[in-house]
Amino acid sequence: MALLSRRRGISDVSKIRVREDRLRKDLLELARYGEEQDGGVMRTALSDADMEARCWFKDRMSEAGLRVREDAAANIIGRLDPMADSADTPCIAMGSHIDTVPHGGRFDGALGICGGLEAIRAIRESKVPLPCPLELLVFTDEEGSHYAGTFGSRAMFNLLLEDEIHRSRSSGKPSLAKDLERIGKDPERIAQAVRSPSNFRVFLELHIEQGPILESLGVPIGVVEGIVAVHRYTIHVKGMAGHAGTTPMRRRDDALVKAARVITAVNEAVTAAGPSIVGTIGELSLYPGAFNIIPGEVTMSLELRSMKESVIQPVQGHIEEIVRSVSNTRLDPLLSKGGVDLDPVIMDAIEISCREGGILFHRMASGAGHDAMTFPPLGVPTGMIFIPCVDGRSHCPDENITWKDAATGAQILADTVIRVAGLRIN
Ligand code: GLV
Ligand code: MN
Ligand code: MN
Repeated sequence: MALLSRRRGISDVSKIRVREDRLRKDLLELARYGEEQDGGVMRTALSDADMEARCWFKDRMSEAGLRVREDAAANIIGRLDPMADSADTPCIAMGSHIDTVPHGGRFDGALGICGGLEAIRAIRESKVPLPCPLELLVFTDEEGSHYAGTFGSRAMFNLLLEDEIHRSRSSGKPSLAKDLERIGKDPERIAQAVRSPSNFRVFLELHIEQGPILESLGVPIGVVEGIVAVHRYTIHVKGMAGHAGTTPMRRRDDALVKAARVITAVNEAVTAAGPSIVGTIGELSLYPGAFNIIPGEVTMSLELRSMKESVIQPVQGHIEEIVRSVSNTRLDPLLSKGGVDLDPVIMDAIEISCREGGILFHRMASGAGHDAMTFPPLGVPTGMIFIPCVDGRSHCPDENITWKDAATGAQILADTVIRVAGLRIN
């Protein structure tokens, strides 16, 4: 599908120099928004910490010479137009997210936006002429703290589920509509965020690997070939609330005890299916929740991930049987994101950038979901660049990287932007 017609002069690429000190400063400053005592970050989407971080980042984008706007889904869009009449010219976009998981780390998402900003600064300073606009996109709620994840990129291409913005996964948590209203947006106008895929020549995302492979190989760059399918569900378990002191054990219908059986059986079923699939029950809420009340209701999240849809389907069937075997228990599908293959021409461009910089690289799949998943099904050529993370840890306060790897990732991103700017990709 992709045609490489002209390779950008190597001399153009070699003029670009990202600055590790500047990137480091940005990443450390960003990590202050929502920082916790143990070194972690609590910056869930549209929380006060997230809003403050977004303001700070918009200022950095403006300083770097980007025209900054926010769309109806609260995505932040920074655009660099190389000429006055390029407003309708398809852009090369880079992006990631600024929100974190609860008690998450400093670099998931943050590396992609700060690295994208540093790449743009370095490209501008190099004075290499750009044949098309660049955009830096900060997507809203990639982590799914409100509902299903990759919200901003799906809103941008009209891919939201019906009524999604009015739903929330557990009682007590605000829906996206409520939080959008809280920050001054009109949720009824969410469709104003929709753009055409034809506005984008290419989408590139720089990210930490979030796993142990690159570190164990001693390789600083991962060239991502594909991103796993992610299927999310909610499991509802109903029991009967009652007095925890007076109800004999044999007369109880304890929702948490039934949930525990489901959790163990699901874990065994996924493990038995082999190493090409993972499954996690990562969220559990119990009602009413007190020392002296037998749990009456449990709601849990379930997630299955694999590169192969054909592996997910039988495991899902097995889990449906498990759930049916436990009284008053229900499995509701929440969202299915198909696995995606990334663009081979972009992968080649990343690899050439590594070779010419003398940087080792490794081709690999992503077990984590990303906004980059949204683009390939729309026909937008998409690439992802990974850097190692220390001990493979992510989505936790211990998430860490080296500044050298961060700068290498941003350099390869900048070089790849210039390289693909010189390609004609159909
Ligand atoms: C995002 O980090 C995800 O993989 O869920
Ligand atoms: Mn994440
Ligand atoms: Mn991420």
